[in-house]
Amino acid sequence: MLNENWLETLAGMVHGIYVLTSADGEIINGMIASWVCQVSYEPPMVLVAVHPNRYSQQLIEKSGSFALHLITSKQRDLLFRFKKSDIEEKFSAIARSKGKTGCPILKDCLGYLECTVRARYSPGNHTLFVGEIVDARMVSTGTPMSTLDYPGFYMGKE
Ligand SMILES: Cc1cc2nc3c(=O)[nH]c(=O)nc-3n(C[C@H](O)[C@H](O)[C@H](O)COP(=O)(O)O)c2cc1C
Repeated sequence: MLNENWLETLAGMVHGIYVLTSADGEIINGMIASWVCQVSYEPPMVLVAVHPNRYSQQLIEKSGSFALHLITSKQRDLLFRFKKSDIEEKFSAIARSKGKTGCPILKDCLGYLECTVRARYSPGNHTLFVGEIVDARMVSTGTPMSTLDYPGFYMGKE
């Protein structure tokens, strides 16, 4: 039987904090994601866990792709911008280009990975998308943002 300390223990895990972008044609979106990890070297693959209530989830399902941006610990503005759900506001005055997969690529970031979804699982309350990296670049230098820079804790609820 699971004891009551599981949530507190999970809160002690350190994750990177990323901006996950997606697109379906000209419709674009971005969200903050921290449940992210590398799962393969050959081919290079990463996994992102996205709650089914996220609009991003619908776009990733439709397009079969996503882009993951590494951001610096100083880019707190991006954190507050992309944790919202107002799509119009998210990209206002943000310099970006269109990536190989069609996903928006933020100009001002530490680096990015563009992925094509190769597998999808729903073992619990998040959808796990395993993406093969089809393009990647480090574009600047700095300290990557992690959950150590975030005062709260993403619990994975709605
Ligand atoms: C630090 C932090 C980490 C987050 N990590 C995730 C995550 O890994 N998966 C997820 O589904 N939502 C995560 N979220 C919540 C989404 O960023 C948020 O619900 C966003 O508004 C979703 O946007 P969308 O509905 O337009 O896709 C996180 C939020 C914060 C602040």
